[in-house]
Amino acid sequence: MTTTTLPALEARGLRLAYDGRTVFAGLDLRIEPGSVTTLVGANGSGKSTLLKALGRILKPSAGEVLLEGEPIARLATKEVARRLALLPQSPSAPPGMSVRDLVLRGRNPHQTWARPWSPDDAAVVDRALEATGLTDVADRDVAALSGGQRQRVWIALVVAQEAATLLLDEPTTFLDLTHQLDVLRLVRRINRESGSTVVMVLHDLSLAARYSDRLVVLHGGGVVADGPPAEVITPATLELAFGLRARVIPDPVTGTPLVVPEDD
Ligand SMILES: Nc1ncnc2c1ncn2[C@@H]1O[C@H](COP(=O)(O)OP(=O)(O)OP(=O)(O)O)[C@@H](O)[C@H]1O
Ligand SMILES: [Mg+2]
Repeated sequence: MTTTTLPALEARGLRLAYDGRTVFAGLDLRIEPGSVTTLVGANGSGKSTLLKALGRILKPSAGEVLLEGEPIARLATKEVARRLALLPQSPSAPPGMSVRDLVLRGRNPHQTWARPWSPDDAAVVDRALEATGLTDVADRDVAALSGGQRQRVWIALVVAQEAATLLLDEPTTFLDLTHQLDVLRLVRRINRESGSTVVMVLHDLSLAARYSDRLVVLHGGGVVADGPPAEVITPATLELAFGLRARVIPDPVTGTPLVVPEDD
């Protein structure tokens, strides 16, 4: 843990809207450095919208986002990319690109005129491919992979970027359960070993509870619950945010909350 109290990311009075249609009218959020925070909420509750604003790909119509205390809007694009990696919800790869070449793009922010390329970049890419189980398909065309393999290529790209802050929008979509766990364990390992800050979006509440320090529940244009998973995942919050009737029991393996929907 770092001793500074400066948040890794902070949203202040954020107003986020599309063509005048407001998703958030004035949202405040502080993300502590070295923490894993997961945004949860029903479809359309604004998870991707908020993540995009935190990653500077959606401009707020009011308020601001601070990256380690600095207004992110004022930073150079390449500097933002060195410090913050964003996995969007539906990324698309340029046609005809190999897995290795796409993951190598994660190194772009680190290259400068004076240091265009180094063998270290190749080593970082190899490690990212290995960590995501993609070494065997490294020379294949990204378009020729399965949906789950392709999703892991995007994870590898984010890993190769080696940013202090990772924003991951549904990093486990398309993945079978084993690969979902692989990705979440990798995220936690990066968080613990490198001290990276992670903000992600997940739909599986039990997995979110298991792999996060903090859950932020979005509903009705705001945050309706925020805190450690065991405090946030309650039948009342599930009913409010998802219209879901469910029991919450301790996961027999980890003790974290497990959501068991009631039958109708
Ligand atoms: N590009 C866009 N243009 C207009 N409206 C948008 C756009 N993207 C999202 N919205 C709207 O903003 C609201 C929040 O959408 P957002 O994508 O942030 O939800 P989400 O919580 O990520 O949902 P999901 O779980 O389905 O990914 C929704 O009402 C959605 O229709
Ligand atoms: Mg989304």
